[in-house]
Amino acid sequence: MHLTKEEEKLLCSENPTIRKSMEILVALGEIFDADKLIGVNSVQISGISYQNIGDAGLEWFEGLSGRFVVRAMINPAGLDLKRWKEMGIDEGFYRKQMRIVNALLKLGAELSLTCTPYYFDPPSLGDHIAWAESNAVVYANSILGARTNRESGISALAAGIIGKTPNYGLHLDENRKPSILVDVKAEIENEAMLSLLGYKIGEKITSEVPYFRFRKKLPEDWLKLLGASLAAKGNTALFHVENQTPEWDGFSINGLEKLEIDKAEIGVEGQCNPDLIALGCPHFSEKELEYLLKLIEDKGKVKKDFWVFTSRKLVEKRPDLVRKLEEHNIKVFSDTCMVVSPATENYECVMVNSGKALTYLPKLRKVDVRFGGMKECVEVAFS
Ligand code: F3S
Repeated sequence: MHLTKEEEKLLCSENPTIRKSMEILVALGEIFDADKLIGVNSVQISGISYQNIGDAGLEWFEGLSGRFVVRAMINPAGLDLKRWKEMGIDEGFYRKQMRIVNALLKLGAELSLTCTPYYFDPPSLGDHIAWAESNAVVYANSILGARTNRESGISALAAGIIGKTPNYGLHLDENRKPSILVDVKAEIENEAMLSLLGYKIGEKITSEVPYFRFRKKLPEDWLKLLGASLAAKGNTALFHVENQTPEWDGFSINGLEKLEIDKAEIGVEGQCNPDLIALGCPHFSEKELEYLLKLIEDKGKVKKDFWVFTSRKLVEKRPDLVRKLEEHNIKVFSDTCMVVSPATENYECVMVNSGKALTYLPKLRKVDVRFGGMKECVEVAFS
């Protein structure tokens, strides 16, 4: 991989974080046969929950020095920074999580703590970025037409320190072309069906760039759930949707292998009796908060614990929505989620509308999961 004189100098920097970051980017570039480094507009760093990375990760973050040279955003942590006591989190965990967050802020990261960084100042079509959270990667590539590989937390951090990433994978036109046509014959009736579709086929099409054909145009919030499930079950980082996503007509689909999906293949998952309903994986958008309120506004207080996760920016932007939902006893948390927080382990069966949560909750939080759309979640909340 060609390095400029300035880039070579960074390999000998006196600052160990800069030196290590360059070494990581060069190693990646060589593995993937990149020709050069290219500038990125932003980075998004995952893997910051103390629950998942423990003391070793905390010490690693605290050992870093220097500054990010581009916009750097961070994924959800293990708790809501303000309302952690309401989540049942203990003080020792809070203190350790805050040390991780503060180490990242010292490097110049934004206090974003969300997996939906694309809702505020999103990247534009063709922008090169280095994002790590898998649903954010799929959304940025597919819905926005920005360009990012599925970075690890470490390689995204390195890209933020240097402001560059190796030029390979989805930064290149030729790797963005569809490789399989997924013809969805079933009428997609709600967000949960699409999320479950991603859950069902994610493994089957793991290394493909799918080109979806649906019966009608679908809301972007539903496509967000599809991308999150595909990425959780497989390696998907980009998909195209006919007549909808920005690059859908940029490539020929002649001769592509075809996968047909009918309703029976989408099916149902999980039937336990939930003691917690948890929505917002990925973090809720403004429209999703509004829709939930619409579903619930004529009803009284929910009869089961009911959590919604969203970004702190949205909580700040729409305190009215949060207040109204909380009047129904729904807790709207930010900075964290049901998968990366240990708080979920206090429950036995969690109801979700997300294929990603369905994938990870049993493995990471050791709980049973019931799956259903938002409407069904609301019905269950009053049963
Ligand atoms: Fe986001 Fe947590 Fe789901 S980080 S995508 S809400 S697992």
